[in-house]
Amino acid sequence: MTVQQTELEYLPSDLERELLPKHVAVIMDGNGRWAKSQGLPRIMGHKRGVDSLRNLLRTCRDWGVGALTAYAFSTENWKRPEEEVEFLMSLFKHVLRQELREMMQEDVQIRFVGNLEALPLVLQEEITHATEKTKENKGIKFTVATNYGGRLEIIHACRAIAEKVQQGLLQPDDIDESVFEKHLYTVGICDPDLLIRTSGEMRISNFLLWQIAYSEIYITDTLWPDFDRNEFHRALRAYQQRERRFGKV
Ligand code: FPP
Repeated sequence: MTVQQTELEYLPSDLERELLPKHVAVIMDGNGRWAKSQGLPRIMGHKRGVDSLRNLLRTCRDWGVGALTAYAFSTENWKRPEEEVEFLMSLFKHVLRQELREMMQEDVQIRFVGNLEALPLVLQEEITHATEKTKENKGIKFTVATNYGGRLEIIHACRAIAEKVQQGLLQPDDIDESVFEKHLYTVGICDPDLLIRTSGEMRISNFLLWQIAYSEIYITDTLWPDFDRNEFHRALRAYQQRERRFGKV
C-alpha cells in the first residue's frame, strides 16, 4: 500500500500528539454493502476499500501514528464465493506490485501476518519480495493480516513452544507472556492501542485475539470504502477522550 508524494497534512489542532495511539489496527468491514448501495458488484467495494486503506496509511504517516495493521483476509474468508476469493487474491497481488515503488519512497515497512503458506504461490512471491525490499525502511510499520486467524496464530505459537520444550530448549516454567509473544506472527510489533471496526458490527472476528487485550475499541457505522480522514479524526478524538487504566484504578 502506498502513501503518495503530496504535502504532509498536519495533525488537527484538537488532537494531542503525546496521546496519539502508537499502533492502530483496523477491521475493514462493509465493502460488500457499500457496493450494493451503489448498485455495483461486491468486488467494486473491495477496489474502493484499497483506496480507503491507502488514505488511512497516508494519514497515519502524516499525523505520526507509527504502526497500522489491517485485516485484509481472514481464515474464514475462504468460504466466500470462489470468484470473490480469486478476485481478492489477485487484487492483493496487483496492489502490492503496483505500490512497492511508492512504499520505498515513503519509507514504509510492510509485513504480512497469517498462514501465508496457504496463499497462492504468486502472491506468496510478491509478499516475500515486498517484505524483503522494505525491511530496512524506517517509516510507518504497515502490517497486512492475510489468511489470518487469531486462534490459529495462538495454536501455531503453542506448537512452536511445545517443540522447544520437547527438544529441551525451554522448560515449562520458562513460559510467560513475554516468551509466548515471541512466538506470535506479530513478534516485534507493539500491541494495538486502538482497534477500529467499520460498518457497525460489534465483533472481533478472530482478529489479534492476544494482542488486543488492552486495546481501545472504536466502532463506526460508516462502511469501509467511506472511511476517510475525517472519520479517522473522529476515531482519534474518541480515543483521546478515553481513560486507559490497564487494570489499575
Ligand atoms: C470486508 O468487507 C472486507 C474484506 C474481506 C476485504 C478487505 C480487503 C481490502 C480492502 C483490500 C486490501 C488490499 C491490500 C493489498 C491489503 P465485506 O466484504 O465483508 O463487506 P460486507 O460485510 O458488507 O459484505
